[in-house]
Amino acid sequence: MKIAIRYCSKTKFGNTRRIAEAIGDGVGVNAVSIADEPELQEKVDILFLGGAPYANIMAPELREYANKLNPSMVSKVVLFTTSNWSRRTVLALKKILRDKNIMVCEDYFYAHMLKIDEKLEEARTFGKKMAVID
Ligand SMILES: Cc1cc2nc3c(=O)[nH]c(=O)nc-3n(C[C@H](O)[C@H](O)[C@H](O)COP(=O)(O)O)c2cc1C
Repeated sequence: MKIAIRYCSKTKFGNTRRIAEAIGDGVGVNAVSIADEPELQEKVDILFLGGAPYANIMAPELREYANKLNPSMVSKVVLFTTSNWSRRTVLALKKILRDKNIMVCEDYFYAHMLKIDEKLEEARTFGKKMAVID
């Protein structure tokens, strides 16, 4: 099974990157920033995709990534997010992807921005749990 992990992380703390890397540890795959790889290079069964809200909206580069994602390149997307309080990034991503007929798991991973350290183990476990074909 082919798995990819892509994330958009913008603060110096790298909260979303750290969660992406923990999910990567769980599934044995390197997490890659969408800044380093703006498009998927190969077809995947599962794409873990994560980001955060900034001033109430998701980063425009993440929106663009989701908008450009080719439905034929991915069988299923699993979302993750970090934030202060708002989870609207995942809701917005779900809508963009589902409107493109990309399957998105209802379940997603959330870590509060001040609780990243204590969420890393849970993120590893989440990765393992979600890395299955239903
Ligand atoms: C400029 C700025 C604006 C933010 N706006 C929001 C917001 O509207 N809602 C929210 O829940 N979190 C907000 N946050 C918190 C970030 O979503 C949170 O710190 C997140 O973990 C950042 O992820 P990153 O470190 O991977 O970039 C904001 C953070 C920054 C720096």
